[in-house]
Amino acid sequence: MKLKFGNLEEEIITRKNFSLEKARKCLLNETICVLGYGVQGPGQALNLRDNGFNVIVGQRKNSKSWKKAIKDGWIENKTLFNLEEGVENGTIIMILLSDAGQIAVWPKIKKYFYAGKGLYFSHGFGLTFKKKTNISPPKEIDIFLVAPKGSGTSLRRLFKEGKGINSSYAIYQNYTGKAKERALSLGIGIGSAYLFETTFKKEVYSDLTGERGTLMGAIQGIFAAQYQVLRENGHSPSEAFNETVEELTQSLMPLIAEKGMDWMYENCSTTAQRGALDWWKKFRDINLPIFRNLYKEVSSGKEADKTIISNSKKNYRKNLKKELKEIKESELWQTGEIVRKLRP
Ligand SMILES: NC(=O)c1ccc[n+]([C@@H]2O[C@H](COP(=O)([O-])OP(=O)(O)OC[C@H]3O[C@@H](n4cnc5c(N)ncnc54)[C@H](OP(=O)(O)O)[C@@H]3O)[C@@H](O)[C@H]2O)c1
Repeated sequence: MKLKFGNLEEEIITRKNFSLEKARKCLLNETICVLGYGVQGPGQALNLRDNGFNVIVGQRKNSKSWKKAIKDGWIENKTLFNLEEGVENGTIIMILLSDAGQIAVWPKIKKYFYAGKGLYFSHGFGLTFKKKTNISPPKEIDIFLVAPKGSGTSLRRLFKEGKGINSSYAIYQNYTGKAKERALSLGIGIGSAYLFETTFKKEVYSDLTGERGTLMGAIQGIFAAQYQVLRENGHSPSEAFNETVEELTQSLMPLIAEKGMDWMYENCSTTAQRGALDWWKKFRDINLPIFRNLYKEVSSGKEADKTIISNSKKNYRKNLKKELKEIKESELWQTGEIVRKLRP
């Protein structure tokens, strides 16, 4: 199906033009092994299982994720295996380990990628930065990705509500001639709302930019700056938090999601309208060089270097806790915790 965005046309895949029935037929003889049971793993594995695909899970034994898999009904030696056994038994391997985990595990599993198998990623990281990750799959397999544009938790939650998350897909290597069919079948099988095409490189560049930018990094920065200014000027924590976060997440974001920003501007007070119209371009202009710099750091591989070094450290979890403490214990998010509890 073709979508028009202004003068640009984009081909997209929906459940209407690639049905679940067709997806099931395409993967009828496949054993799909979901490798890793962290955040994306459970979302994608459970949606596929509920949609009637033949799924097994590969997970290192006796960790928190292993226990979670058992709790979700995966049975040891039947549908739940250790990582090596999972890769050996699967015909399509969905590698949903953390990106640092993929680097650590690759040397142990690479020998099980026999000719004709499929290797599926949900991120272009491992192969785009293959000189850094040393992930070097053989030539005789299919390699593709489906990257849901949201957390595994929402992928599962929306699936249960009969909704879905949009995903991108990309083909990296088409050995069997069926790589696209395999990718789209899995994209529909995990419950994507619609699928749009990308490349491994574009997926990883946009993803790293987005999470460092408006999705997580930039938004926390803007929250922190506005909250600080309000508090410096004598506003109470309640007032500063409500004007910075609570009103946005509880009232405006759902409306923006449903109707768009122009509608939001049209349907607020005339005072808010004038101010928002006058100020949004100032925020854009001041942020533009930061975003350009961010994209440069991502596409040069600098962000990947930093990520690999930091996330491969043994004490990664401990360091993460320390860094998160700064956010958790900030007055802004301490206030948030109290305000959240007061919601009716
Ligand atoms: N999270 C998202 O919202 C999201 C969205 C779209 C795409 N993705 C992509 O999906 C993939 C999976 O992401 P995720 O967030 O689900 O990952 P995650 O939760 O961080 O992954 C944890 C999984 O990796 C395993 N693991 C980590 N280090 C390991 C090691 N050294 N040896 C063996 N196993 C190891 C964990 O097992 P243990 O419990 O035993 O440590 C667990 O199964 C990534 O490529 C990510 O970029 C994620």
